[in-house]
Amino acid sequence: MEKYEYFSGTPEVGIVPRAPHAGPLLRHVYEQEHGRGGFAGKVSHTYHLYPPTNWLPGEGRHLPQWAPGWESPLRPIGGLHHVLGVAPAEPAGDVYRGMGRLVANATAAMNVTVPRAPMDYFFEHHGATMVFFVHEGRGTLETTFGPIEYRKGDFLIVPKGVTHRFELAPGPHYYWMYESFAGDPEKSEAPTTGQFITHSRSDYRFPRSLDTRNESGRFEIVSKVDGVYTRRVHPTHPFDVIGWRGEYLPYKFAVEDVRPLVADRSHVPPSGHTIFKLPGCYLCVFTVRSVEKEGMWVPFFHKNLDYLETLGYHFGDFFSGGGVVGAGMVSLHPVGLPHGPKPRSLQAFMDGANAGVHQEVGIMADFANPTRVSELALGLSRPDYMSAWSGYTTDPRFTYAPGRLAEVRALGERLADARDTLRPPEDEGRA
Ligand SMILES: [Fe+2]
Repeated sequence: MEKYEYFSGTPEVGIVPRAPHAGPLLRHVYEQEHGRGGFAGKVSHTYHLYPPTNWLPGEGRHLPQWAPGWESPLRPIGGLHHVLGVAPAEPAGDVYRGMGRLVANATAAMNVTVPRAPMDYFFEHHGATMVFFVHEGRGTLETTFGPIEYRKGDFLIVPKGVTHRFELAPGPHYYWMYESFAGDPEKSEAPTTGQFITHSRSDYRFPRSLDTRNESGRFEIVSKVDGVYTRRVHPTHPFDVIGWRGEYLPYKFAVEDVRPLVADRSHVPPSGHTIFKLPGCYLCVFTVRSVEKEGMWVPFFHKNLDYLETLGYHFGDFFSGGGVVGAGMVSLHPVGLPHGPKPRSLQAFMDGANAGVHQEVGIMADFANPTRVSELALGLSRPDYMSAWSGYTTDPRFTYAPGRLAEVRALGERLADARDTLRPPEDEGRA
């Protein structure tokens, strides 16, 4: 007789009961629910060798000043653009004790970390789901659900509450980290372009290999909720999981799996490059892609009237940066303040110099107003960034000329109704 196999449709790994809360296995292992939305939202179940509440009484305590850079005081940013220098020298520590806050609003934040020390503890963020982007470095993210190996160019999504630690490979490390306080990242999709632009859910990589630890000792877990850090100590290893089932999971997503939307005859706005939506924030990837053939292939000057824009420069010659910014830097463009191509980029466009390919990777996270900037970020701000646009006040091509109005009127008569080359042929007699 032919044998058929069936799949429940719910991800599961290892030893699990037939259904959550059901079956005799539950009299021998310890089920723990990771539940969002007051147990009415996304959920996963882990099955443990030992009770997850076996902490050592008297060992739990709050940890004042544990991650001071993460709690860097915030203040209004005002109407000046900033670019922040590469990888801050301080604070330096492990992934979390050295975390530095850059900007934050009520529901999301951007942080930076340059870990140099191993984590001798496990971490749980009780206040946010975290999205890491690995600008530099590689290692293993060890989690309750199994290990995730990562490298430069990976996003790591660590859902709120999941116990984890980073095992760093040798070499320098530099990560940007986005916190979402009010919900998990949602994959961005436009109804007109469907679920495979600009990436597919099948590009997400979830753990499949449990690394179950049956170990005794002293295992510290540090948790964070708001600005309070708390330590508890367990006598057994927290990764004592023999199986899990559910959809509330950590995962990774490689930036090279972003397959960007491009257009020959128009400029795709930043929103066309959105990969994740978070409450009060959207995350975009500008990656290697064909340059538009006609129309604008540099960004138009713009005022983002509801969001502060952050842009982390990961790789390449940043076409809008005009050579002012370099890899590892982060620019902050406040709500409402105009910006756009630096003079060198715009000159190249006006001269028709089309490079054919945008050789760049940039990670943009825009934060709904009001968003505030940290003192730590202001301390990293390079003083000369506002002058990145100064060519517009000094280059005669852009500055005042008495004949400018007449010149543009003449150009308007000639060009305002001109069409692209890439278009269907015109009918005889149609204007
Ligand atoms: Fe912008």
